[in-house]
Amino acid sequence: VCKPRMAEYKYILYERIDHTAVVRLNRPEKLNAMNLDVIAELSSVMDTISSDDSIKAVIITGVGEKAFCAGADIEYMSKINPLEAEQYAIKGHASMSKIENLNKPVIAAVNGYALGGGCELALASDIRIASKNAMLGQPEVNLGICPGWGGTQRLARIVGVAKAKELIFTGKRVSAEEALSIGLVNKVVELPKLMEEALAMANEIAKNSALAVRVSKMLINRGIESDINTGLGLEVWGWSLCFSHIDRTERMTRFLQKK
Ligand code: CAA
Repeated sequence: VCKPRMAEYKYILYERIDHTAVVRLNRPEKLNAMNLDVIAELSSVMDTISSDDSIKAVIITGVGEKAFCAGADIEYMSKINPLEAEQYAIKGHASMSKIENLNKPVIAAVNGYALGGGCELALASDIRIASKNAMLGQPEVNLGICPGWGGTQRLARIVGVAKAKELIFTGKRVSAEEALSIGLVNKVVELPKLMEEALAMANEIAKNSALAVRVSKMLINRGIESDINTGLGLEVWGWSLCFSHIDRTERMTRFLQKK
């Protein structure tokens, strides 16, 4: 069992629990809204996690019982010009894409409001587990802007075009149960059980071959953006690559020896 280690960030708590990295957005007084510093720290912690082979899964959640993340910082956005907005979007996108393309699976433990950029952070993660009190949505049009950190693209890919249009055009919030029914979240649990459930799933993943999980994530992400034959071609390469690792030899031998 690895001893939990903490690194110093202003807006993020980073902890190791066994083979899982737990990243908590820590700006509860602003419902974990992401200003430029939060985005930069999130990017930086993803780089640390990416280069650590002993980490097998990642959980992202929010500090407090009210919000996972209430989105981009409205106070900041109220003052910026289009060029500054472009930088905010580019940095937000870079951070979300880092999560989406991270070489380890990422679970969003959605512990309350996940709105706008907060919903987009959950969408960039591989799996979403929500607490019963969670509310998700893309309310940007209400503020005179469209979603800007991937919401128009990832939401449609996850819940389908029609549902994404309904959610984005109305800006309405959906409950955890409704989010489950449209495939926006994978699972709903009571708030006190959220981290336990997320860690249990992370541990289940961590028992498997890290390379095989990593290749699977890459193939699903690349494949969904490709035509079926390109995706299937990539799978042949990814599958064969797994045979280069000692993990495959050991795991198959173990299976055969058990018989
Ligand atoms: N940005 C900055 N501050 C925020 C914030 C945000 N997105 N969301 C909440 N806060 C702040 C509030 O201003 C308040 O601060 P003060 O105490 O200093 O006044 C504090 O967090 C607590 O919030 P509320 O008092 O509003 O709490 P509530 O319980 O009454 O309401 C809520 C909760 C429904 C989540 C409400 O805070 C809310 O609607 N927040 C905004 C959600 C939103 O519209 N998000 C999308 C942002 S746009 C975006 O994200 C663009 C993009 O795609 C990248």
